[in-house]
Amino acid sequence: MSTAATISREILKPHLKIKGGCPLKGEIKISGAKNSALVLMTAALLTEEIVKLNNVPSLTDIHGMEEILSAMGVNTSNSPNGLNLQAKLLSNSEPPYQLVNGLRASFFCIGPLLGRLGRAKIPLPGGCRIGARPVAEHIKGLKALGAVVSVEHGVVSASVLGSKKRLKGAAIILDCPSVGATETILMAAVLAEGITTIENAAQEPEVQDLAKMLNKMGACISGAGGPIITIKGVQRLHGCDYTVIPDRIEAGTYLIAAAITRSKIHISPAIPEHLNAVLQKLRDCGCVIATEMDGITINPGELTGVDITTQPFPGFPTDLQAPFMALLATTKGTSVVTEKIYENRMQHVAELQRMGASIRLQGNTAVIEGVPQLSAAPVSGGDLRSAAAMVLASLAANGTSKVEGLNHLDRGYSNLELKLNSVGSQITRRQ
Ligand code: EPZ
Repeated sequence: MSTAATISREILKPHLKIKGGCPLKGEIKISGAKNSALVLMTAALLTEEIVKLNNVPSLTDIHGMEEILSAMGVNTSNSPNGLNLQAKLLSNSEPPYQLVNGLRASFFCIGPLLGRLGRAKIPLPGGCRIGARPVAEHIKGLKALGAVVSVEHGVVSASVLGSKKRLKGAAIILDCPSVGATETILMAAVLAEGITTIENAAQEPEVQDLAKMLNKMGACISGAGGPIITIKGVQRLHGCDYTVIPDRIEAGTYLIAAAITRSKIHISPAIPEHLNAVLQKLRDCGCVIATEMDGITINPGELTGVDITTQPFPGFPTDLQAPFMALLATTKGTSVVTEKIYENRMQHVAELQRMGASIRLQGNTAVIEGVPQLSAAPVSGGDLRSAAAMVLASLAANGTSKVEGLNHLDRGYSNLELKLNSVGSQITRRQ
């Protein structure tokens, strides 16, 4: 291919053009949580009745999950800001490979399919840019509940023996508080015979949201949000009408947008207690934060660096590590950011350095010296949250940046440029 054609192809890669230095003012609306909606959609497999989900975000991952469920025979239909799902006649327990291969969250189907049908065949979700993302704890839990599970040729096959094809409650202790493993075991155990306990369970708000919806469907779950969850198996679940919680990671991202542009904005709906660790770090670096029942106002002052170590909830969320590092590249003094959840979630460091950030990386620890001004550059996000970090850094940079990686960004942020432009940003999307 000629150089000119290569250059034009490069220029034509979908990207956002972002003019830096625009102050923000006003209110940003937060959408439903991606990491809740995805698992709630798969929970609809546990009943023949209609599950009505409200406040479902419009994201590529959500549309991908819809396709997967439809391919298994689930009736899906859209309502104004939601989704109706009915798994009346499940045509198969093996979602098509070409659909699930692109969406790790499709693995959430294995628990409900086992609970409902007694069998499931799901491709092993591969790793991704941020890490290996193993599912050993998910499989360990399903085996403890009596499933026969094998992994061959990249496919996880699970089945329940015996005439009743019903899983049996068990006492399960997780080696790590895995969100996906906790949610998978929860959905498998709700229809099992007897009592299941999950120790060292993940405590994320999305786990709590799932337990709340399952209980609304007739399940008998207690302790969700704490380290030990108890599930008393029931015979069947019925449909429900449920509203997805606001996305705490999207909310945190826009709070950081306000901080990095030194702007005062309000975000809602938002549940402050889902963001305590992030709000504390924003206060520690010099932001005044006011919280109401379902909203948060941020007013940055003179900002200085803070240290951050990512932890399972209620610690600082790994999904806001990259966005927060973009902010720390612009605050006075030194900050140390340590990533403890994923083995390879520092790809945004090199891109921030291209924008003039002063960062020294040692393994999964970054030492950041704040600079007075980042400079605009063509940058790219290699994963969802790195792409968000590039957008935030561009909002504060001197000049106009070009941010690539929209295929990642659109997985987790609906209408990002519309939301930011509504409060004063100058962002245009170039397909
Ligand atoms: C969920 O992923 C989220 N995704 C992730 O959000 C989030 O980063 C993560 O939880 C942690 O909060 C969804 O909910 C769809 P984990 P999940 O199992 O369930 C290790 C985003 O940006 N682990 O809690 O895959 C694993 O390697 C995405 O929105 C094991 O070692 O997360 C990882 O290091 C990214 N063995 C850590 O635990 C296992 O068997 C957290 O994984 C399972 C996990």
